[in-house]
Amino acid sequence: MDAIRTEGLTKHYRVGFWRPRPYVALEGLTLEVRQGEVFGFLGPNGAGKTTTLKLLMQLIYPTSGHAEILGRPVGDAAVRRRVGYLPENPSFYDYLTAEELLEYVGALFGYGPSARRARAARLLDEVGIGAERRLHLRKFSKGMLQRVGIAQALVNDPEVIVFDEPMSGLDPLGRREIRELVLRLRDRGCTVFFSSHVLADAEALCSRVAIVAGGRLAAVGQLADLVAFQVRGWELVVAGLGPEAVERAKGAGLVMRATAVGDGRYALELPLSVAPERALAELTTGGARLVSLNPLRETLEDFFVRQVGAAPRDRGLD
Ligand SMILES: Nc1ncnc2c1ncn2[C@@H]1O[C@H](COP(=O)(O)OP(=O)(O)OP(=O)(O)O)[C@@H](O)[C@H]1O
Ligand SMILES: [Mg+2]
Repeated sequence: MDAIRTEGLTKHYRVGFWRPRPYVALEGLTLEVRQGEVFGFLGPNGAGKTTTLKLLMQLIYPTSGHAEILGRPVGDAAVRRRVGYLPENPSFYDYLTAEELLEYVGALFGYGPSARRARAARLLDEVGIGAERRLHLRKFSKGMLQRVGIAQALVNDPEVIVFDEPMSGLDPLGRREIRELVLRLRDRGCTVFFSSHVLADAEALCSRVAIVAGGRLAAVGQLADLVAFQVRGWELVVAGLGPEAVERAKGAGLVMRATAVGDGRYALELPLSVAPERALAELTTGGARLVSLNPLRETLEDFFVRQVGAAPRDRGLD
């Protein structure tokens, strides 16, 4: 049984006041998310990500198509108890404290007073705002509210977790903490389905991804297998290398292009035909120090631009 399955899931909106016309927010999405997967749902602004997640949570209803969670239709009450959801821009009763909000959500799930207090404390610690548990939510920053949103999605120990842009509003440290949290959830056997437009988050977390653009599925699979994102070369930044050594490395075919970035540093573009480990070993033997090594590949943005360019689509229906 899959954790999430959609078949031909479609949502059309009617837009325009005087002459309402159908608009394609999502068209024929067929997707399977296996149990225990961390699955990234990627796409640019307006691609249809939030629409899909809302359809899964039955906050909106499909024009056509079908969606299942844990083998049951999304409306099934028993299944809903096993799902956690972080909405896109979580907003809460802001006169409550973080602790009160979580206890309130716990009460909605039917936990008794001591159980919900314990859960609230554990989850607020887990998302890194334990120290602010008694603060009113109206005093919370965007990143702190995002963490509260993640905590409330986990109150019922869900087996399937649906996060709409979990990293949004978080600083680099916050991103790392939430990434680690997602991996801990996976290690406990949870399925995590999250939307994002940041490729790096997907790379750090996902077993598989789906890419949507213009309301349609553009690609699905393991990131490493998606041809568009395969490494085209490496950029190596080194320090402490003389110009002669750079020329020698070029002559030996270890380096394709070298740009001096000042401070005795060079950004070197390595050819794909040479293992970056080998180029690095030879350069460090020659006295270079490693500053950074990064793969060169198409970015998600390049991919989107190409997709949109290849298939210009009018999302209106008439
Ligand atoms: N209630 C609505 N009425 C009309 N159009 C809508 C409605 N909700 C969403 N849309 C349109 O559907 C498309 C998909 O929106 P959606 O919110 O799913 O995008 P998204 O992929 O989540 O984008 P983002 O990355 O910006 O969050 C957008 O073009 C949006 O304008
Ligand atoms: Mg969205």
